[in-house]
Amino acid sequence: MIASTVRKPLFVLTLFALSLFFFLPPDPSATFNSSLLVRSEIWSIRRLAEWRPCNWWLQPHLNVLPAQTNGYIRVDCYGGLNQMRRDLCDGVGIARLLNATLVLPKFEVAAYWNESSGFEDVFDVDFFIQQMKGFVNVVMELPIEIASKDPVRVDCSKRKGQFDYVESVLPSLLKHGYISITPAMSQRRDRYPLYAKAALCQACYSALRLTNTLEKKAIELLQAIPKPFLSLHLRFEPDMVAYSQCEYSGLSLASANAIEAARVDRKPWTGETARIWRNRGMCPLTPNETAFILEALAIPTNTTIYLAAGDGLMELEGLTSVYTNVVTKSSLLSGEDFTTMHGNTKAALDYYVSINSDSYMATYFGNMDKMVAAMRAFKGLYKTIFLNRKAFALLTSQGLKGKELTEVLWKVHRDDFIMGRGSALPDCFCEFNL
Ligand SMILES: *[C@@H]1O[C@H](CO)[C@@H](O)[C@H](O)[C@H]1NC(C)=O
Ligand SMILES: *[C@@H]1O[C@H](CO)[C@@H](O)[C@H](O)[C@H]1NC(C)=O
Ligand SMILES: *[C@@H]1O[C@H](CO)[C@@H](O)[C@H](O)[C@H]1NC(C)=O
Ligand SMILES: *[C@@H]1O[C@H](CO)[C@@H](O)[C@H](O)[C@H]1NC(C)=O
Ligand SMILES: *[C@@H]1O[C@H](CO)[C@@H](O)[C@H](O)[C@H]1NC(C)=O
Repeated sequence: MIASTVRKPLFVLTLFALSLFFFLPPDPSATFNSSLLVRSEIWSIRRLAEWRPCNWWLQPHLNVLPAQTNGYIRVDCYGGLNQMRRDLCDGVGIARLLNATLVLPKFEVAAYWNESSGFEDVFDVDFFIQQMKGFVNVVMELPIEIASKDPVRVDCSKRKGQFDYVESVLPSLLKHGYISITPAMSQRRDRYPLYAKAALCQACYSALRLTNTLEKKAIELLQAIPKPFLSLHLRFEPDMVAYSQCEYSGLSLASANAIEAARVDRKPWTGETARIWRNRGMCPLTPNETAFILEALAIPTNTTIYLAAGDGLMELEGLTSVYTNVVTKSSLLSGEDFTTMHGNTKAALDYYVSINSDSYMATYFGNMDKMVAAMRAFKGLYKTIFLNRKAFALLTSQGLKGKELTEVLWKVHRDDFIMGRGSALPDCFCEFNL
């Protein structure tokens, strides 16, 4: 997934830079009489392309599973829920690539969540095993001769560049018989045989279902939201802003302090570097900027918006002063439910609501956004947009504002939407011309 999302966006960004070149200065009719350009709600635009699950994945059993296993692999996953899920998907692909047998993954808990929520606390294990049949062998129990051992840890998470699992990991697997891996951030998935890719796709998008308890809670939440609604993933949280190394002016003192407190080692960029960084689209959108873009996309201001986000959102008035029908988990679930809920549980609820909402908008390009966009494509829900941070930054840095800015933002997002660009779906999805 990573390998492709690194390559595709570069191409898209180049295209985008070119298109900006042609857009600027904006065409005179838009500048001088914007009522000439009628903006209808973005979703009403006719699309020319979309992404659908690839045939080589949906028509499985490309190769029969090897009769003999090269050993047992446990995938160890760390970080937030969607990051763990991404690593699990990659790990399943690797296990198949190496002709190995999977044991259930370990979902390790980052300090961030302060809880212990393993794989089987979040996902339906029986469903997972059943859905993986024919794609990769999965076992609940290890054979007796190795059951007493801990797996030998092979940490690939820091490996970079031309990393090849057959070369680097297979020898350890053959030697020890049972290893645990954390997949590398970048890998040459383009070189995988299709059956290994298919196993990855199946694991990620067809085999993960929330546990019964979690799904019940998620359905309850979904039912409480007035329909139709837009699920909006805002990321203007202190840790995110600190991590992004971006500077924002005009924030409240409370927000500024919260961001300062969340800084660990990364100092914000300043001066020219800050400008370049922002223009590369590296800065999370503020609620205020998000509201501006939503209006540019002609999303009616009385639209019901579900905030798929943590509780730490800053400067929310920037959104809620314009979009007045904003609902959150904490406003819809009972206080008791909410306070006893863990981070992973809340993330699972946001995920569930977002793959079932009428429309979804991402303000960043994070693990949750990628996962949700892909699941929505899998389910045939096409009203998904990644708000274009880069366009917003470039245009505002060129001094565009008000109506002018609105018009150009509209065109940029309209073109992305028409061509199915921007969400950069992973390998499992193929472009389809409508
Ligand atoms: C824009 O054009 C329309 C139709 O040509 C006209 O009715 C309207 O007055 C114009 N608006 C402005 C602000 O010039
Ligand atoms: C896995 O098995 C297939 C045949 O089923 C073989 O072509 C491939 O080389 C094997 N890969 C490894 C890493 O053992
Ligand atoms: C983590 O959880 C424990 C027990 O639930 C609680 O006592 C502690 O305050 C929590 N720590 C943080 C940083 O939230
Ligand atoms: C965003 O903030 C600016 C400055 O505070 C304000 O003028 C503008 O109206 C806000 N826009 C939205 C969409 O809230
Ligand atoms: C939003 O406003 C439009 C036009 O005023 C109206 O037709 C529509 O029913 C409203 N929608 C909601 C959800 O209130």
